[in-house]
Amino acid sequence: MIRTVPVALGGRAYDVLIGPGLIDEAGARIAPLLKRPRLAVVSDETVWSLHGARFAAALEAAGIAALPVVIRPGEQTKSFAGLAELSGRLLSLGLDRGDLIAALGGGVVGDLAGFAAAIYKRGVDFVQVPTTLLAQVDSSVGGKTAIDTPHGKNLIGAFHQPRLVLADLDVLATLPEREMRAGYAEVVKYGLLGDAAFFDWLEANAAAVVARQPQALGRAVARSVEMKAAIVAEDETEQGRRALLNLGHTFGHALEAETGYGAALLHGEAVAAGQALAFRFSAAQGLCPGRDADRAAAAIAAAGLPTTLAEIPGHPFDAGRLLAHMGQDKKAEAGRLTFVLARRLGEAFVAKAVDPAAVRDFLVTEGAGA
Ligand code: NAD
Ligand code: GLY
Repeated sequence: MIRTVPVALGGRAYDVLIGPGLIDEAGARIAPLLKRPRLAVVSDETVWSLHGARFAAALEAAGIAALPVVIRPGEQTKSFAGLAELSGRLLSLGLDRGDLIAALGGGVVGDLAGFAAAIYKRGVDFVQVPTTLLAQVDSSVGGKTAIDTPHGKNLIGAFHQPRLVLADLDVLATLPEREMRAGYAEVVKYGLLGDAAFFDWLEANAAAVVARQPQALGRAVARSVEMKAAIVAEDETEQGRRALLNLGHTFGHALEAETGYGAALLHGEAVAAGQALAFRFSAAQGLCPGRDADRAAAAIAAAGLPTTLAEIPGHPFDAGRLLAHMGQDKKAEAGRLTFVLARRLGEAFVAKAVDPAAVRDFLVTEGAGA
């Protein structure tokens, strides 16, 4: 079954299609968006070796020439150097402003190819073909594109909405177990931030989702995308409500910065621990019942994800260093910190001007060095 979730953005509206076998339909689905029958396909080496031939065959079946641009996998590629290399290769292909770019891969490929599309000859259209769970439920939808710099993650970027998102659930079959779990952190995020009934369902179905049981997986991806699409339609450029999607990210980004944005701690793992910390911090501030924080942590742990600093490589962390990373966060304003905190399961809110001293004390109670 193919589900269609519209992202209602007026003249920039698009659909997210979710279901099995969508890669095989890619040519027919993308053809109406093309001005001439060729498509630059940005992918990473791993994804291209697993799914590239199928994707290219689907394009060719619709008379579209695939122009692959295969990049190195990994967060390091989402950099100025990676952007320069990709842009040069796109220029060498002779793409013009009427051409389209497809991003076939996880969040790294989607963010980098999306940003390249945003600035290539002042902007070309692109489509997202997300191949990780994280990319299907989060990064491929909503138009945030970016690269990392030594100052932090995603600090240079643009809003650039895709024209179409094809989330083929079958491609997740080849995704390593650890990546699947990391993506699940973004699924549980939607329940925690705004849908208590979805959270309840996930408490009972986490194992089925992570095991890629088709019905459970389809429901989890579709509900996640519906929630993201609704929030993005309401607040495309994050003036307000969209910030809720950053639940767990302020703590998570600080942990990623300390662990070097690499294999030691995946983005989803950082967000998993960050969400548990955000709920416990909310409880410590008297904002949220302690039992809700316990249930949030239990649901995250049930998917094999970390919920405490002690589980993160590099523990014990220094509270001051973590706070310094939080001060670099895009959401920090005039030395005060912005966090997404919780009133209860399924109800998050944006807390501006959080006192860094309260965060420091909390981190110390969580086992960070003073
Ligand atoms: P990723 O793109 O690095 O993919 C993870 C790994 O899985 C890579 O090694 C990749 O080669 C491999 N892979 C991808 N699909 C596969 C498949 N089907 N089978 C086998 N292997 C496969 O990581 P990710 O977790 O998808 O994305 C993380 C990135 O997304 C981060 O840079 C993060 O900042 C970004 N992100 C962006 C947004 C946004 O709104 N733009 C939201 C969340 C995260
Ligand atoms: N992943 C956060 C956002 O898209 O706003």
